[in-house]
Amino acid sequence: MKSQYYLSVILSIFLFQFSNAQHNIIPVPVKYENQNGSFIFNDAVKLESKNKEIKNIKSIQVFQSYLSNLGVKSSFEKKAKGNIISIEINKKEDPALGKEGYTLDVNDKIIVLKANEFAGIFNGLQTLKQLTPAANNSDQSIEIQSCKIVDYPRFAWRGLMLDVSRHFFTVEEIKAYLDKMSEFKFNVFHWHLTDDQGWRIEIKSYPKLTEIGAWRVERHGTFGEGRTVPKEGEKATYGGFYSQEQIKDIVRYAADRNITIVPEIDFPGHSMAVLAAYPELSVKKEPKYVSPGNKFSEWYEGGKFKMLIENTLNPIDDNVYTFIDKVFTEVAQLFPGEYIHMGGDEAYHGYWEENSEVKKFMKKHEIKDSHELQSYFVKRVEKIISSKGKKMIGWDEILEGGLADGAAVMSWRGMKGGIEAAKMGHEVVMTPTTYAYLDYMQGDVSVENRIYASLSLEKTYSFEPVPDEIEAKYVLGGQGNLWTEAIPTLQFAFYMTYPRAFALAESLWSQNKDKNWDDFVRRTEGNMVRFDKEGDNISKAVFDPIIEVYKNGDKVMCKLENSVPNTTIFYSIDNTYPVEFAKKYDTPFEIPFGNLSLRTQTFRDGKPIGRELKIGREDLVKRIKK
Ligand code: ACM
Repeated sequence: MKSQYYLSVILSIFLFQFSNAQHNIIPVPVKYENQNGSFIFNDAVKLESKNKEIKNIKSIQVFQSYLSNLGVKSSFEKKAKGNIISIEINKKEDPALGKEGYTLDVNDKIIVLKANEFAGIFNGLQTLKQLTPAANNSDQSIEIQSCKIVDYPRFAWRGLMLDVSRHFFTVEEIKAYLDKMSEFKFNVFHWHLTDDQGWRIEIKSYPKLTEIGAWRVERHGTFGEGRTVPKEGEKATYGGFYSQEQIKDIVRYAADRNITIVPEIDFPGHSMAVLAAYPELSVKKEPKYVSPGNKFSEWYEGGKFKMLIENTLNPIDDNVYTFIDKVFTEVAQLFPGEYIHMGGDEAYHGYWEENSEVKKFMKKHEIKDSHELQSYFVKRVEKIISSKGKKMIGWDEILEGGLADGAAVMSWRGMKGGIEAAKMGHEVVMTPTTYAYLDYMQGDVSVENRIYASLSLEKTYSFEPVPDEIEAKYVLGGQGNLWTEAIPTLQFAFYMTYPRAFALAESLWSQNKDKNWDDFVRRTEGNMVRFDKEGDNISKAVFDPIIEVYKNGDKVMCKLENSVPNTTIFYSIDNTYPVEFAKKYDTPFEIPFGNLSLRTQTFRDGKPIGRELKIGREDLVKRIKK
């Protein structure tokens, strides 16, 4: 009996491992089962469908061009024979799949992809793409392991935000960003279109927004301290904006990839570019310039701050609301999605508080403080947005002083804003700095583009969008945010986004119980190969050693860690090179006094993976937590 029991346990472990064997799909599907055999094709594959309109669907054409890049011709045929990919919309809706789910059945002769709607077909094609080898030289056949997949998302809002104000990305670059995110089944592109450093959307009723607001003097180097204010008479040459025709093109391009665009127009703060064009919309009405990223704010404990230059709209001026109404009229016509984002974050109230007209207004309307005044502003904006047939969403500051009815909240200062809003019955999108800020450094500061905080891939992977305190039904989903103060190119935007967006995709699409760090890292490594072959920049910072420096009595101690399986860390503190001939790390060690550097690098199977870190003793000592 006992031996039979053990045999069946061993057999079931083997079968489990076999049925879940080695695919690199991100996000991990709900159900994946290996089958015997494989679908093999060389330079051609036939497509078939009972739905006549399928061949005109852009997402299918996108997949065909992917196949063509692999050296594979594909065409639709009526009565196809040979290697066939069959694509069907379910006649009878499969309730488990919803709008975006799909089933994929790969056999020796035929691949069958089915879904209730085209969104599901698109997602299934992304999975199929991930089942093909990363690249192909055409004399090699393409082999896809036979398998059965049933897959659907956990959340309806799976977003990435891109800030195009701090760095302007061209139309082609936006499309490349959309292409990539759609491969990992993200379906919301939150487009941060306006900020102090540039207004990027053509608004026909206020042309100076782009004539003046889209352009700033060019400065290089670190945002804040490292950039100087415009000189008298200096020409504003850096910037750009999207014409309404370009926006319509991008909206269509996104829709073809199952992506809805949520446009953000950030009011009442972050409005220096607006005020450069129309200074009369501020309280002080002083002339302004579009910020080139020079220092104009001071930050204190507990998230408090001061704007040294006014960058807020005047909340008591009816002309401001006329302006906002006209802007959102045009925005609502351009973006067919359900939501418009009105910003609401980090609005400095100091210039409101010191103004006598504002004080009089507050007294008359029994507004007790500046938070209530901002709430008055947000509630008026909410009415404007809902009058255009759209739902308003804003950063979690819109809770302060009282949340507008019907507003959805994007929780960024941790999850607490989202929790508070959900408890009041509002929809929320979770995008906390602690898990989802893609502008934070993902590796050691010595090798990253320095910014004020860090966020590792492993931490991002632990993101759970539904906190225990609230009902899941209020959480629409979550999102990663890419602010671009320190991101001067598209390729660097990819570097910062990936692979952390893989981790977010898995937290937002996959079932919680199926998340597994070690397996995620394995699949991530598979996708790194694909990025490398396609010439896209993906960060490998996850392989780098994580350095912790601490004091033990008078001794300066150093701990090295790595969260990637099957790796070894080597290090030297005597400047010897390469580190693989130095010491293998197994326990914390002392950094002796002297003019020396720590050199360290991660290895696997005798080969370096990740970067060598080299940090002087002085810098190490600065890292000791007080
Ligand atoms: C934000 O990061 N200011 C929303």
